[in-house]
Amino acid sequence: MTENTTIDTAAETEYPQPRYDSAGPVAAIGNSKASRRSFIKGVIASGAVASSASYVFGGLSGCTPEQAATPGGVERLMSLNVNGEVRRVDVLPNETLAMTLRYKLNLTGTKLGCDRGECGACTVLVDGVPNYSCSTLTHTVRDKAVRTIEGLESPNGDLHPVQQAMIDELGPQCGFCTPGQIMSAVALLEANPSPTRDEARRWLSGNLCRCGAYDHYLNAVMRAAQSA
Ligand code: FES
Ligand code: FES
Repeated sequence: MTENTTIDTAAETEYPQPRYDSAGPVAAIGNSKASRRSFIKGVIASGAVASSASYVFGGLSGCTPEQAATPGGVERLMSLNVNGEVRRVDVLPNETLAMTLRYKLNLTGTKLGCDRGECGACTVLVDGVPNYSCSTLTHTVRDKAVRTIEGLESPNGDLHPVQQAMIDELGPQCGFCTPGQIMSAVALLEANPSPTRDEARRWLSGNLCRCGAYDHYLNAVMRAAQSA
């Protein structure tokens, strides 16, 4: 058993918690007044809308904004606030945020590992809260601010203190989980600038690392907290 799995998930803290607790990443959807069941139903329903629309209209690509609204669905063209920039993007009703970021907006720093809400590689911040972007429908964040790993660097090119601490503590091994780990850590330190090591461990528990670099990542979070 890794150190990351021995945490006390019952412990209470005063700052907001990441949205991938025992209810899974779709708990984030729960905060927007939708249950896990309705989320899954929504995914299934929107998929059905997309596929039936394709059957009737022979595909939706290239249609005008007026035509883009699918019956019973959502308008496909949307403005997405990513890293402080408003980006116009054509989003399928059942498209996940990870897909939009990586394959529509070319923000490939967000990684796709399991693509099923288990590993945390795809973690991004939505209004400052960590979310699994592989399990978040892009249309649910149209009024929110999304932050990805690309948005952490300052305009003059300086790395975010958490990024720098990850380097100093030799956190990344293969590096695949690192963007997700960093985004979770950034959210933690913004909510609680002086976490205990146990608090940091619990906060990062939604980010798995197949290389087992958990201690390095925790060292980095504590170093970044001290340098703030
Ligand atoms: S890729 Fe999203 S949780 Fe694994
Ligand atoms: S550094 Fe390889 S999976 Fe975490």
